[in-house]
Amino acid sequence: MHTPSAILLAIGPLALAASVESLLSRSNATEGLSAEQCCTRLKGVLDSSQVLFPDSEEYDAQEASYYSGEQALQRPACRVTPSNAEDVSRVVRLATLNNCSFAVRSGGHMNWVGSSNIGEDGFTIDLEDMKQIELLNNSNTVAISPGLRWADVYGFLSPHNLHTAGGRSSGVGVGGFLLGGMCKKIKSVSATYKLIVGGISFLSLEFGFGSDNVVNYEIVLADGSIVNANESERSDLYWALKGGSTNYGIVTRFDMATFPLTEIWGGSLFYNATLGPTFYEYLVGFTQRLSVDPHGLLAPILAWNAAEKDYLIWTPNAYLGPEAFPSPLYDGLQDIPTIRDTMRITNLTSVTDEIDNGSPGGSRTQWFALAFKANAELPWDIHLKGDEIFRPFLSRPNTSWALTMQPINVGMIAAAKNRGGNPFGLSDEDGDLFLVLISVFWTDPGDDVDMKGATQQLLKWSTDTAKERGLFNRFIYMNYALNTQPVLESFGPENVDRMKKVKEKYDPRGLLNVWKGGFKL
Ligand SMILES: *[C@@H]1O[C@H](CO)[C@@H](O)[C@H](O)[C@H]1NC(C)=O
Ligand SMILES: *[C@@H]1O[C@H](CO)[C@@H](O)[C@H](O)[C@H]1NC(C)=O
Ligand SMILES: *[C@@H]1O[C@H](CO)[C@@H](O)[C@H](O)[C@H]1NC(C)=O
Ligand SMILES: *[C@@H]1O[C@H](CO)[C@@H](O)[C@H](O)[C@H]1NC(C)=O
Ligand SMILES: *[C@@H]1O[C@H](CO)[C@@H](O)[C@H](O)[C@H]1NC(C)=O
Ligand SMILES: *[C@@H]1O[C@H](CO)[C@@H](O)[C@H](O)[C@H]1NC(C)=O
Ligand SMILES: *[C@@H]1O[C@H](CO)[C@@H](O)[C@H](O)[C@H]1NC(C)=O
Repeated sequence: MHTPSAILLAIGPLALAASVESLLSRSNATEGLSAEQCCTRLKGVLDSSQVLFPDSEEYDAQEASYYSGEQALQRPACRVTPSNAEDVSRVVRLATLNNCSFAVRSGGHMNWVGSSNIGEDGFTIDLEDMKQIELLNNSNTVAISPGLRWADVYGFLSPHNLHTAGGRSSGVGVGGFLLGGMCKKIKSVSATYKLIVGGISFLSLEFGFGSDNVVNYEIVLADGSIVNANESERSDLYWALKGGSTNYGIVTRFDMATFPLTEIWGGSLFYNATLGPTFYEYLVGFTQRLSVDPHGLLAPILAWNAAEKDYLIWTPNAYLGPEAFPSPLYDGLQDIPTIRDTMRITNLTSVTDEIDNGSPGGSRTQWFALAFKANAELPWDIHLKGDEIFRPFLSRPNTSWALTMQPINVGMIAAAKNRGGNPFGLSDEDGDLFLVLISVFWTDPGDDVDMKGATQQLLKWSTDTAKERGLFNRFIYMNYALNTQPVLESFGPENVDRMKKVKEKYDPRGLLNVWKGGFKL
């Protein structure tokens, strides 16, 4: 029975454990380790195949899969691909003890440089190999690993006639969507125009933001411990994680509430851009009617379509039942003439895939977020101002921009509160809101200064104008925000204080400061 090799196998893990422990101890170097030294040590605490260096194909493939063309060009000293929470724990311990800077990438959809990748002075933890999924608690909960995309999650849930409050674009990744910083793998970079939807679920009007539907986080804390945070255990951390970004630890599993769902009415509606004012008027009424029926969501995207050299309105739409134009929510929509529509009774996967195909990655990009009281004139004025600002650049190759409007109604805010609340600081008094996403795309690095400058110009004009008109709302939605935007401050001083106290409790020595990217407290 006990052959020599079986004995060797049996003691192997013990011997490995001892050397792993010594590698995980603090190095004697007072300045900490160089990024190369960090990577060399990482090979000792993981399987060496999990540490990828710049000369490997796998490293290049991971780099190429970032949504942002600029992030794809950052070259970390190495990329590590943990396969479970224990691997993540070892990497975090090694990094925090030795002052190794790192970034974390779940799906890589975040738009700004350094949000989920890092340069040669650090390494990147790529969660793409963490793809477990299972139903728990009599199918009331689905446990999802952060390397999955929503397409995988919906594909798993559909046969059970279940759904959860995940992304509307199926290629978006789980980790960033729920923590701030949507994540997505690229399908193609060749579409004629580039449009974005995401962050808010088709279930959100009834059940709140995606993060309001997480019932438990499994998280690796600064000291490497793997713990749960939920309503009854570490409820302070549970609350903070709903807007946590990169401040508290690396989430290795999200347990989310499930909801029954079979057929829906969904697809896309396309309109002539000159109908913008009519459509925004319609959206104000639609947002009010969401209080009567929260089962539908439409989000018009007014985008420059380079192929046609004109703007176009693309409106992804879904109603969570097998009924076309349900009244009263959709009253009046049929009076607005479409150019084309793909509305049909189908399943949700088919709609989220369609949206994903309309929003490829690979460009250099800038996004920003803005919220204001539901209002028909301001969106159209932002479009006109944006056209004035971007028009001089629109003849350049691969250059476009889009204005996406999404309703957040009082019912959605109340739903979030009912599910335990989050740090966003929204309340009934905010009333019905429009959430704006501006997204700008180009591919030539020589255009960076122009395009980033133009984006800042539109951000300033839109914010100032919303304030002048008494429509401004302080909420900045993290998933769409630019790194220059004060996202956490927008949650309000009380919530920021509370988040900081949670941070002090779970990372008293600030060990996680070596984690770069995201929005920091
Ligand atoms: C640190 O220094 C001590 C004493 O000089 C030595 O025993 C130990 O092996 C060193 N540790 C590392 C990780 O280099
Ligand atoms: C940690 O590394 C940073 C550079 O990433 C450096 O500025 C800092 O001084 C280092 N801190 C310590 C305690 O070694
Ligand atoms: C299991 O699901 C039920 C019904 O949603 C819920 O009330 C209960 O809290 C859940 N239990 C756990 C441990 O998640
Ligand atoms: C909350 O965390 C505790 C402690 O880890 C765990 O026993 C419990 O099952 C968790 N609750 C949920 C709903 O996951
Ligand atoms: C949109 O309407 C304008 C004005 O009626 C017209 O000139 C233009 O061709 C239309 N565009 C499309 C794509 O139908
Ligand atoms: C969803 O609908 C698409 C298109 O009709 C179909 O190909 C796919 O099999 C359906 N998926 C499920 C899980 O029913
Ligand atoms: C436009 O985009 C395509 C596809 O990404 C790329 O091959 C081409 O080089 C880009 N053109 C310029 C001028 O950047």
